[in-house]
Amino acid sequence: MTTVAVLSLKGGVGKTTCVLGLAGAAWARNLSVLVVDADPQANATAALDLPPHVFSLGDVLADGRPGIAKEAVVPSGWGPRLHAVPSEEALAHRNRPEGPDSATRLRVSLTGVADRYDLVLIDCPPSLDELTRNALAAADGALVVTEPGFFALQGATRALAAVEAARDSLNLRLRPVGICVNRLRTQLSEHRYRLEELHMAFPDLIIDPPIPERSAVQQAQGASVPIQAWPSPGAREAVEAFDDVLDRVLR
Ligand SMILES: Nc1ncnc2c1ncn2[C@@H]1O[C@H](COP(=O)(O)OP(=O)(O)OP(=O)(O)O)[C@@H](O)[C@H]1O
Ligand SMILES: [Mg+2]
Repeated sequence: MTTVAVLSLKGGVGKTTCVLGLAGAAWARNLSVLVVDADPQANATAALDLPPHVFSLGDVLADGRPGIAKEAVVPSGWGPRLHAVPSEEALAHRNRPEGPDSATRLRVSLTGVADRYDLVLIDCPPSLDELTRNALAAADGALVVTEPGFFALQGATRALAAVEAARDSLNLRLRPVGICVNRLRTQLSEHRYRLEELHMAFPDLIIDPPIPERSAVQQAQGASVPIQAWPSPGAREAVEAFDDVLDRVLR
């Protein structure tokens, strides 16, 4: 069993895309997966084709009892081995510290729940605030996502610093899994330059190959199906890259 928090400093770089790509890769390997949507934007919730639900992560964190996350678990339309804890807008109220156990509520709520799955993926919001701290407190691994742009180096450095701080203060088992570079367009010299820069700064952490930018990624998300089920050459390229990220996560 592995629990991985997927985070970034910046918004829109592909955290949810990586969570969905990894969930699909694990699904294609017949692994059981739980996706915890810890982002009030609820993008993963929308893409996973979930049935109507009344209980979501905000209620789970408000309750805070050990194992209570089980009450919010719903099956995904993707297939029988894929489950999710959905999010909704009101989860935003939980993104600032509240009380001494504020950052460990997710971990406690997943007690006896996470260990029923081969892989638990936590989709973080675009900040390093309390919801991301909860994700880092609950995880064994942290996967940092970045685009190969001007802010990549700075963003990855700060995200890794947040992981280190969470390890020291909240969770000694936490380790950085790696840095997933997303939306690479190899024809752009700027992207190639930024990728090289990331390799130089984090030689052991960059996961190769990066995830290419392909319209199939957006099409599959829009249709609420795994990219692994999308029949196009672009999808297959993305699928191969996500498979390598999954190998890294499970290593
Ligand atoms: N490799 C890719 N190829 C094509 N489109 C992509 C790729 N990765 C992400 N996108 C698109 O970019 C947008 C942002 O991606 P995503 O929602 O995964 O980012 P995020 O980091 O989760 O954003 P937020 O910080 O708002 O949660 C989405 O519309 C997504 O479909
Ligand atoms: Mg997202």
